[in-house]
Amino acid sequence: MNIQFLSKERLFKIDTIHCSYVMAIADKEGFLGHVYYGPGIHDDDISYFTRVSEYPFSPEKLARERCAFLDTFMHEAPGNQNGDFRESSIVITDEENHEEVSLFYKEHKIYAGKPALKGLPATFSSDKKSGTNDCMTLEITMNDPILELDVIYVYSIFADSDAIMKSVRVINRGSKKLILNKIMSVTFDMPDKDYQMLTLHGSWARERRMEYRTIGHGKQSVGSICGKSSAAEHPFIGITSPNITQTEGEIYGFHFVYSGNFLAQVEKNQQDHLRVAVGIHPENFSFVLNPSDEFIAPEVVMVYSASGLRSMTHILHDLYRTHLIRSPFKDCKRPVLINNWEATYFDFNTDKLLSIAKEAKNAGIEMLVMDDGWFGKRNDDNTSLGDWFVNEEKLPGGLSYLSEKLDEMGMKFGIWFEPEMVCKESELYRNHPGWMIHIPGREPAPSRNQYVLDMSNPAVVDYVYEMVADILRNAKISYVKWDMNRSLTDLGSTYLSRESQGELTHRYMLGVYELQERLITEFPELLLENCSSGGARFDPGMLYYSPQIWCSDDTDAIERLAIQEGTALLFPLSTMGAHVSDCPNHVLGRTVPFATRGHVALAGTFGYELDVTKITKKEYDLIPKQIAQYHKYNELIVSGDYYRVASYRENHLFDFYGVVSKEKDKALYTYVQVLNRPNYKSRMLQIPGLDVNTKYQVRIVDWETGNEIPTFVLHGDTLKNAGITLEAAKGDFVSCLIEITKA
Ligand code: GLA
Repeated sequence: MNIQFLSKERLFKIDTIHCSYVMAIADKEGFLGHVYYGPGIHDDDISYFTRVSEYPFSPEKLARERCAFLDTFMHEAPGNQNGDFRESSIVITDEENHEEVSLFYKEHKIYAGKPALKGLPATFSSDKKSGTNDCMTLEITMNDPILELDVIYVYSIFADSDAIMKSVRVINRGSKKLILNKIMSVTFDMPDKDYQMLTLHGSWARERRMEYRTIGHGKQSVGSICGKSSAAEHPFIGITSPNITQTEGEIYGFHFVYSGNFLAQVEKNQQDHLRVAVGIHPENFSFVLNPSDEFIAPEVVMVYSASGLRSMTHILHDLYRTHLIRSPFKDCKRPVLINNWEATYFDFNTDKLLSIAKEAKNAGIEMLVMDDGWFGKRNDDNTSLGDWFVNEEKLPGGLSYLSEKLDEMGMKFGIWFEPEMVCKESELYRNHPGWMIHIPGREPAPSRNQYVLDMSNPAVVDYVYEMVADILRNAKISYVKWDMNRSLTDLGSTYLSRESQGELTHRYMLGVYELQERLITEFPELLLENCSSGGARFDPGMLYYSPQIWCSDDTDAIERLAIQEGTALLFPLSTMGAHVSDCPNHVLGRTVPFATRGHVALAGTFGYELDVTKITKKEYDLIPKQIAQYHKYNELIVSGDYYRVASYRENHLFDFYGVVSKEKDKALYTYVQVLNRPNYKSRMLQIPGLDVNTKYQVRIVDWETGNEIPTFVLHGDTLKNAGITLEAAKGDFVSCLIEITKA
């Protein structure tokens, strides 16, 4: 880990474990150039890059052709309307309605430590004592002298990571009001090598599917303008070599640590250079910067890997586990829960919940989670959001009675909230109709018959917080599922001034973050799980507040293979909410063996989402076995390295992935035979990640019974290169676990 400034060459060099990131200040005028990002290079050689007498580092030599210079220069800090016609990184409207921005180097500082981003999620030092020993930061202040504007680019690195974190602060240093209409957190130019673009797309119940596409000339992007990171597109973009595999090819990955609107774009220009741009989506965004005001743009995590997808995945998993998730649960086994949503939907009462809890407890389940429908008059999804007080008709004696009964049983208790929402049929709406996001004079669009509360308004944040906290203060509650089931539309706030209406979506996110921050501060032992219509807010921003996020409302084990593959490309397995649910599956109608449902859910937080009083005895009897597997393997799953070997998404036949401990003394691989093949006897499965010189005992956990059959002892190199042979099983959707321990 090192960050240096070479004053003669006016060059910045950031070095992580294996990578270098180099920027140079163009001669005299001070444009900031992006020089290099990739595998580490020698310090001695970097002065080569300044080439001060050469184009393009000498704009004064191009006095006549300034536009050509700026439109081809490899920028790190592109402005707007100044001759560079690619994607701008910043747009400011001044008091005369002009929008040009030109940024010139002003100053920089390099220091130990990493600043927090006020009100925003961000990676942090894991050095508990000083917070400075394991990280370094470079702040480069760029300035537009006409606007009297400072734009501070903040780059941080950790000693134990190959990622580079970047955020931006925009400060009005002048005496006139400025309007910030756009600020990208990352924008830089790089040479193209026939790169492709990798993104995660989806929808409700089929989130985060990996998708590659050719990068053509012009702009191609993913984004969200619906007020949350969304199920449709994910705040990530990868620039990859063609045909990248798990182990071969380059990838530049950019992951946005934010849960609201985003843009992640790549643009190929006439020189075949690529401009990457990641940040808050400029659509429906503006922010008033009065004199001395500062705007903080969220952080982007940048990762480069020269050895395929896997090493990017490992870098991100380790970074998030060590430097982003704060919960005391992050490295711990979470209680095995049973959630009543798919078991009862809205049709439950105390007795029903207690009967589920009793059967669940007998099978080894540790916590009951009461989902939607316990409050106000909510017997369906038309009413009562906002009325966070107990429906005593359903739950006589309230939550204290229910939680005490569960406590007596030895069961923990968890509860569902959707704090950002309001239904018109609610006391909250009747008392505060102006707290709903809407444009006066327009009928706002309902979605699931609900509306969004204006979290830009501190009074709303206070009120909602007190309602939620009051429930938690008065019953024994160990877990909260924080849901968010609609997008933001009709973007008007009765709280914000006329000129600040464009601040709504970002201030909304700041309000949500503040709510969750308060919650985990007052209730530090609470296990928080974020959720949004399934996995529509599964993003790094949310991980700062909750160690786990509900992956998808699609709990079908086969659909989950692709959803969990896409999610685990970026996120540690410990964060993926995954449950064994009922069959035929409520989304698809597909029936998958109970054992396979368990094996697939083991790759996440693990729990149940079914009426345990109604399943067959054979299924019920499998639960203790599955839970025993959970207890046995969860520490490995939470802390180990994830290996994706084969993907049903690609081969349309089977899925194969595993987790190997950091010490390489044990591993757990999961094989799912999605479709059987006629006259197909067996499959060779190579098992990567182990120490090549160590002998391992390999046990295949029986497909049907869950029993372990000792099988054979092989060296790590044999497992990696030759692999094991697995006989084809009868039937589709069958699976097995392969447990590997040091012999
Ligand atoms: C969302 C969640 C579900 C469930 C329902 C309740 O759809 O994703 O898991 O909590 O809301 O209304």
